[in-house]
Amino acid sequence: MQDIVEVYSALSRKDECIMNAIFENMWDFEYVPVHVFIRECGMSEEKVEGLLRRLAGLRLVENKYTEYLGASFTFKGLSVFSLKRLVRRNVIDMLGKIMGEGKESVVFNALSERHGEVVVKFHRVGYPSFKKVKEKRDYGTLHYTVLTIRSAKREFQALKRLYGYASVPRPIAWEGNAVVTELVDARELNKVRLEEPEHVLELIIEEIRKMYERGVVHGDLSQFNILVSEEGLWIIDFPQSVDVGDEVAEEYLERDVSNVITYFERAYGVKKDLNEVLRYVKGEA
Ligand SMILES: Nc1ncnc2c1ncn2[C@@H]1O[C@H](COP(=O)(O)OP(=O)(O)OP(=O)(O)O)[C@@H](O)[C@H]1O
Ligand SMILES: [Mg+2]
Repeated sequence: MQDIVEVYSALSRKDECIMNAIFENMWDFEYVPVHVFIRECGMSEEKVEGLLRRLAGLRLVENKYTEYLGASFTFKGLSVFSLKRLVRRNVIDMLGKIMGEGKESVVFNALSERHGEVVVKFHRVGYPSFKKVKEKRDYGTLHYTVLTIRSAKREFQALKRLYGYASVPRPIAWEGNAVVTELVDARELNKVRLEEPEHVLELIIEEIRKMYERGVVHGDLSQFNILVSEEGLWIIDFPQSVDVGDEVAEEYLERDVSNVITYFERAYGVKKDLNEVLRYVKGEA
């Protein structure tokens, strides 16, 4: 992913047409067949095959022969495609450095003339890491690309729903697997030593309550997804979030609250009763 900007600059209009056609047709085909590219890009079969080989060489697409030759995005290809769209919309002007790279995302900072310093998070839910290519999970005929885009969409929608009600980074844009938010100048809870842990725990419980009131359960809340600074705290990382009323909402809520309480007890010896907090969050106390 380090070379995403160089790869991005090396793409021609024809490459872009191929990538566009993958994006438009991946809902119907796990691997978008060559005839679709021939039709949509107005190129010969030889030309299309040449471009697909080149894009595979850049690790942007994966080509596969079944009854026909078809192509799908790799995580890198989908990310480059999403980045192109963000730049074209003038959402961001320059991608910066990697801030973090995990199993399910790669997070960059970026500069935006319009929005200042921002964060671009490229989702990669379901994509096998290169080491594990052989252990692909079975997702039926849906390509990872679709799942990954769904994860980004879910995160963006949760942020939009919550912004202004609970403390989350301002959502700016969503394209493909990329979600752009404001950059918050704060550090993960597990990386700081709090001076007033009781107070911070109260603030976090208050955020969980506000999110619940707004109809959202985070689903992956922990000391790693809470950013803190002298100015306040922010809840991040929403791809797993569910609506209140969803069949797993109560279970997720209990896990979220339990994670937070357990962390404060272990790290600071601050104790809270799980059921009492749950009642408070749900407006029952
Ligand atoms: N808006 C933001 N402002 C500042 N830092 C951010 C922001 N969003 C994300 N980060 C940083 O990037 C890290 C990863 O982001 P996030 O938690 O959303 O993704 P993730 O899926 O947990 O990633 P990973 O797979 O690496 O755990 C965060 O822990 C945080 O340090
Ligand atoms: Mg996280």
